[in-house]
Amino acid sequence: MAATRRPGRNHLFVPGPTNIPDRVMRAMMVQSEDHRSVDFPSLTKPLFEDTKKVFGSTDGTIFLFPASGTGIWESALTNTLARGDKVLTSRYGQFSHLWIDMAQRLGLDVIVQEEEWGTGAKPEKIEEVLRADKGHEIKAVMVVHNETATGVTSNIGAVRKAIDAAGHPAMLFVDGVSSIGSLPFYADEWKVDCAIAGSQKGLMLPAGLGVICVSQKALKAAEGSSGRNDRLARVYFDWEDHKKQNPTGYFPYTPPLPLLYGLREALACLFEEGLENVYHRHAVLGEATRQAVAAWGLKTCAKSPEWNSDTVTAILAPEGVDAAKIIKHAYVRYNLALGAGLSQVAGKVFRIGHVGDLNELSLLGAIAGAEMSLLDNGVKVTPGSGVAAASSYLRENPLSKS
Ligand SMILES: Cc1ncc(COP(=O)(O)O)c(C=O)c1O
Repeated sequence: MAATRRPGRNHLFVPGPTNIPDRVMRAMMVQSEDHRSVDFPSLTKPLFEDTKKVFGSTDGTIFLFPASGTGIWESALTNTLARGDKVLTSRYGQFSHLWIDMAQRLGLDVIVQEEEWGTGAKPEKIEEVLRADKGHEIKAVMVVHNETATGVTSNIGAVRKAIDAAGHPAMLFVDGVSSIGSLPFYADEWKVDCAIAGSQKGLMLPAGLGVICVSQKALKAAEGSSGRNDRLARVYFDWEDHKKQNPTGYFPYTPPLPLLYGLREALACLFEEGLENVYHRHAVLGEATRQAVAAWGLKTCAKSPEWNSDTVTAILAPEGVDAAKIIKHAYVRYNLALGAGLSQVAGKVFRIGHVGDLNELSLLGAIAGAEMSLLDNGVKVTPGSGVAAASSYLRENPLSKS
């Protein structure tokens, strides 16, 4: 079929990349410049401090890499661990699976707790394994905060309590790729040693800037591993090279300039709105989406409300209906991009991302489009029911707290 022009704006409702605010796009329209000039640090130095705020950290150290989230997973593991080190983690979706796969391919000894997809990390099970590890062989606990594939958020505060209750010194690594900048995240309070983010979700930028917030403890682990023969190989993602350059505002290699300008503007957007308001807005939009799903008579992939994600809702298609068809039809007919089901849930779920630069009416557009695509695919939902339920909820619950 020949490509056709799709008039109007594409409604981008995949859970990342997300919509880029116009002012952020404008901020990225810059001429190239010398990244070793005397002027350059005036752009970069404040970024290292300001970015910490979205991680809920004042004690951490930020490193910015030209990379996507996957690269930052690698950065966390390779800087702090040695070949054969034990790490403890849980698998409950495609992204937790991929991080496990990376850890195994890097040569770590990965203890995997298999959890049902639609649930998340279980602090009590983590505590049990850590308590049994009397010799403290487990060096890190890895948790995906928001499993984007299934629309599940795990409780990182509770994981921290579990580690402390076990009296275990393991580091805590948290993938916040689809949570940081949109869900409450408190790296210092939760004592997160490596908090991992990518630019294309809550930070409302294109993909390509990977961000990590590293605790003092993780920095020490990295320094301690430096002289070891069995340390994991690290070159491009080595924090050491960045530590030498970043304090003066420079990078060990060519940084992605437009993304740095974009980050400055995106952070300004988040701070102007206020992070607490940003978190509240995501909570309201998430609940409005779930109200629509309930009104359609459909179920979310998240097994119970405790797992609900406020950045993405994965919706189970009814038995016998291919979710991929709903997604394709929404795109081709209504210019609406919904998130695909990945791996185990391919063809079973479609996802509505509600992360980033969104408001009530943009979300209602996606709900209307999803509803039309469901109807066109023979799913017997009551026309208008999802939009009615979501809009009633949105009218009663303002997006801004203040
Ligand atoms: C939770 C989570 N972790 C990691 C990744 C991988 O990030 P990237 O695609 O930026 O490499 C994604 C991507 O969507 C994700 O949602």
